[in-house]
Amino acid sequence: LFSSHQIHSLPPESASFGIAFDIDGVILRGNIPIGGSSRALKRLYDDSGNLRIPYVFLTNGGGVPESKRAAELTKLLGVNILASQVIQGHSPFKQLVQRFENELIIAVGKGEPATVMSEYGFKNVLSVDEYASYFENIDPLAQYKNWTKQLTGNRNSPSREMATIDDPCSQRVKAVFIVSDSVDWSRDIQVLCDILSTGGLPGREIGSQPPLYLANDDLSYQGLFPTERLGMGAFRIALESIFNRIHPNVLKYTSYGKPNPSAFRTAENVLMQVVPSHSSHPENRGQHTFKTLYMIGDNPSVDINGARQAGLPWFSILTRTGVFKGEKDHANYPADLVVDNVEQAVAYILRKEG
Ligand code: G3P
Ligand code: MG
Repeated sequence: LFSSHQIHSLPPESASFGIAFDIDGVILRGNIPIGGSSRALKRLYDDSGNLRIPYVFLTNGGGVPESKRAAELTKLLGVNILASQVIQGHSPFKQLVQRFENELIIAVGKGEPATVMSEYGFKNVLSVDEYASYFENIDPLAQYKNWTKQLTGNRNSPSREMATIDDPCSQRVKAVFIVSDSVDWSRDIQVLCDILSTGGLPGREIGSQPPLYLANDDLSYQGLFPTERLGMGAFRIALESIFNRIHPNVLKYTSYGKPNPSAFRTAENVLMQVVPSHSSHPENRGQHTFKTLYMIGDNPSVDINGARQAGLPWFSILTRTGVFKGEKDHANYPADLVVDNVEQAVAYILRKEG
């Protein structure tokens, strides 16, 4: 049904606009498609399953490699989604491979954070679960956590070859990456404070802080529960408040994802690769300029704020299926258009673009 070359078979006339879809609160809630998302996406393909309209997913979520996320979305939504169309909060971490390629780094979060980092090319990565398991009594509450699975064999990451790391307890951690939402805040805050306040050697003297990178800084997001859930930004506030009480210097960190304008530039660049140049020469691919790029999101301070900061050619569309539940437009971060759901957003775009 779907050609593997579908993206490069786009007719040039369809390349004057592209779409970036937020996922949580727009396409899915939890793992459930919402707002007519499957029908909306199907309209972007022709009858033979070839892509007509260039689009990407621009999500602050993550925890699995882009290829796995694409396969999950394909299954849930019934259209063929490629790994190259999935930009997650942690996707920019691959730009840091050169700096930390052979250094010991720690990956935090739900899903398979260490697999994500290994696939990006980091060679010496441990998940915080794996790392904590080397330190006896690092989490004094572990015995009360009845739900904790015993780490065995390749330590909780079936799809990843466990890095052979000699005695990680005596090796300095050179960077911490929060890849996705922390599952066990109490353990992770304790272990991260140990790493970050000692210069990367838990149990030792206070030292200078290794770099900390976060895939996003979302205070909250829309899951399956009726009201918003605390996100990575909330975890960051908790970690930061505690770190700043126990360390003479304030916590330094870098967060990626929306609303940073760089996330929108990445989306634009990926969309350019998705669209063939008007010339048929492949070397000209990526030179294309869009008249309009649509961001469809549910979170005013993240998706709409980001699209507004990114400026032209971005046009923001706010749905009412997630964080935003208002009648009118948002007061602080007004969108260019407010609609009930993603199906209405796509209908608007296709009508406007003829
Ligand atoms: O954890 C995911 C959440 O912070 C945001 O996901 O798809 O709404 O950008 P999304
Ligand atoms: Mg969202």
